[in-house]
Amino acid sequence: MDVVIADTEHLLDEHHRIRREVFIDEQGVTEDEEWDGRDELPGTLRVLGLQDGEVVAAGRLLDLDSRDLNSPNPDTGDPDSIVAHLGRVAVAASHRGTGLGRELMVGLERLAAEHTTGPLRLVLDAQEYASGFYASLGYQPTARERFLDARIWHVEMAKQVR
Ligand code: COA
Repeated sequence: MDVVIADTEHLLDEHHRIRREVFIDEQGVTEDEEWDGRDELPGTLRVLGLQDGEVVAAGRLLDLDSRDLNSPNPDTGDPDSIVAHLGRVAVAASHRGTGLGRELMVGLERLAAEHTTGPLRLVLDAQEYASGFYASLGYQPTARERFLDARIWHVEMAKQVR
């Protein structure tokens, strides 16, 4: 699968289509919850996965611009460290269970690394049922307690990518 940035109007429409199908139609997330106003922020990348030219997966990276030399990151204490967030990870229902989710995650990590320099930590809010998926990719639960988001239980997980 090719994992690419949705950088044209058409690709953005396709990215949004996957998120709508998976999170709004399938999981019952509301419009306001899904379109949370963070898509257009600096430091955000909207990403999609193409299999044989067909868009079958989507994901989002946030806070790729999080380095602040004047304010060391509270998570790491390292002034030079980026703590970016990864989310909206979705594979079309018709294509699940064939390794595309794993390929999507590898592609998201590659794009995060390409768009940052220095130490990079990726943090995500895993729906509890999917925590095994992320654990198999090297993400570990953080100290944060499990929490409800959009009426779904989540656990925060993180991985030091670089
Ligand atoms: N729990 C534990 N392990 C899981 C899992 C789960 N829910 N889903 C997949 N895995 C494992 C697979 O068995 C596979 O392991 P293997 O490499 O040892 O065989 C590995 O993770 C990769 O699986 P893959 O086929 O790449 O996953 P996928 O294409 O089905 O995608 C999701 C996984 C979670 C992205 C997909 O189920 C999805 O889009 N779900 C709906 C949206 C969603 O809930 N996203 C997560 C929001 S936090």
